[in-house]
Amino acid sequence: MSDDMADPLHLLASRFAEAFRAVAGSDVDPVVRPSERAEAQVNGALSIAKTMGRPPRDVANEVLGHLGDVSDMCESVEVAGPGFMNVVFSAEFIAEQLRGALIDDRLGVRRTEGMPNVIVDYSAPNVAKEMHVGHLRSTVIGDALVRMLEFVGNRVIRENHIGDWGTPFGMLIEHLVDLGEDRAAAEFSVGDLDGFYKEARKKFEADESFKERSRLRVVALQAGDDETLRMWRTLVAESTKYFNRVYRQLDVLLEDADLMGESAYNDLLPTVVERLRDGGLLQSSDGADVVFVDGFTNRDNEPLPLIIRKGDGGYNYATTDLACVIDRVGRLSADRMWYVVGAPQAQHLQMVEAAARTAGWLPADVEMRHVAFGNVLGSDKKMLKSRSGDSVKLSALLDEAVERAAAAVREKNPDLDAGSRDAIARVVGIGAVKYADLSTDRVKDYVFDWDRMLSFDGNTAPYLQYAHARICSIFRRAGVERDSVRQSGVAVVAPQERALALAVLQFDAAVWDALDKASPHRLCTYLYDLATAFTSFYENCPVLKSDEPVRTSRLALCDATARVLSTGLGLLGIEAPEAM
Ligand code: ARG
Repeated sequence: MSDDMADPLHLLASRFAEAFRAVAGSDVDPVVRPSERAEAQVNGALSIAKTMGRPPRDVANEVLGHLGDVSDMCESVEVAGPGFMNVVFSAEFIAEQLRGALIDDRLGVRRTEGMPNVIVDYSAPNVAKEMHVGHLRSTVIGDALVRMLEFVGNRVIRENHIGDWGTPFGMLIEHLVDLGEDRAAAEFSVGDLDGFYKEARKKFEADESFKERSRLRVVALQAGDDETLRMWRTLVAESTKYFNRVYRQLDVLLEDADLMGESAYNDLLPTVVERLRDGGLLQSSDGADVVFVDGFTNRDNEPLPLIIRKGDGGYNYATTDLACVIDRVGRLSADRMWYVVGAPQAQHLQMVEAAARTAGWLPADVEMRHVAFGNVLGSDKKMLKSRSGDSVKLSALLDEAVERAAAAVREKNPDLDAGSRDAIARVVGIGAVKYADLSTDRVKDYVFDWDRMLSFDGNTAPYLQYAHARICSIFRRAGVERDSVRQSGVAVVAPQERALALAVLQFDAAVWDALDKASPHRLCTYLYDLATAFTSFYENCPVLKSDEPVRTSRLALCDATARVLSTGLGLLGIEAPEAM
């Protein structure tokens, strides 16, 4: 990261770092936090006092003694309570930082050093099966991470590892033969992928001759039979057409060029086996070729094998993922690989990583990270299901979001013309679904709740979008161009003004914190706090009714807030309309 940051808390921490080093004799985190009572609180004295066996207030006073002159930044620094240091920033310093952010297209967000290659493996639904809400989560979280990673200057490669290969394709192709390709295409186009899959499975279980045909079809598929491959391609194409429809509805970046399904690694699979064998890692277990990686055991505490090739010669999910690692590190020169995959696959990914590291395919400086997520629950706190008990059809769910948003928008602003209302309903409805998913800590489950996600109050997309639209409307009423206020002098005086300016200046920290933890909800929490700070600013600090220079200064603060809101929502893959 480059060093020209705007965030006052970071700047304060770097000033304190030296003073702490002088007292402790080593590097100590000053632990700077926003605080209710002052504007920042420095808490680092508490922990070093403990290690040094000294009273924390003494240590804090000594740190202040080493701090030197900070009057360019702080109005006051005081030791308080058991040994905190409370800091009030100087108004001139806040104004200075804000002026810097206003003229910066990136609003103070620092870039990464170099241009690392980051692979984000996300979405990954399965061909001829409905995308379930788990795929919705992977798609939405992965897409937000892609946008954030790109924004700070990484070279991001999106990989959509769809499940497009394996033994079920025998029965799926035979079902396609029975049904006729036109009828199959019609089912897929309305998103009835589950219906198709279930019918195929039912016949497979009930009908011996269908089962035999399916078995032969798998053999033909693996042997590369032309007609079989053609039908397989039809299944893949019809499914990806449906996935693309969901992606366009969702407004995510994924395109056909990002498809890198399991089948793409077929040619590499024998190499995986050979190289594992050459490396002495391959063992035989119950007729299968397996790898044992240290530290993984089953319930009976026996070593757990990673199955590479089954007894019948078929390759496994893990084999493909190992081929993936070889391809991503070798061909794509990955510096980091992020797998946005449900929490239940944690052990699978850990074992793949361990095997790849032992085999020497994954250098120590290449990161492989499981960006795990929990479940989407219904109001009954069980896995979200449709009324019929099937998995929810995502395209229908998204249509419903837009319909419900249209009703909410109509109620909020009855004067909108129908055309704008439809456009706004789309970004509000889709934004609400995405934001509800992104705003809870991804590792947790969350309850899918229409009323809450579409509410104009609370930590929701509509609340943030509305705050943004409100600022746009202030400028419309003033008849002032947004960018005309960016070069002007700003002054921060009122407490709500200071609080809002400080919130604006923490955008950089929020983006980097969210990226560090691969946790978009951290950016959501920040944006929500910012919108809340704006609400209280707007209630307490007249903008258009103030005299100059306060009026323009406040307009500039409004502009910065709106830009952070729209840029921040944009990083989450959510649009911010100018009116709603
Ligand atoms: N298709 C898989 C599923 O639906 C997810 C694949 C995730 N990516 C990977 N490289 N294993 O569960």
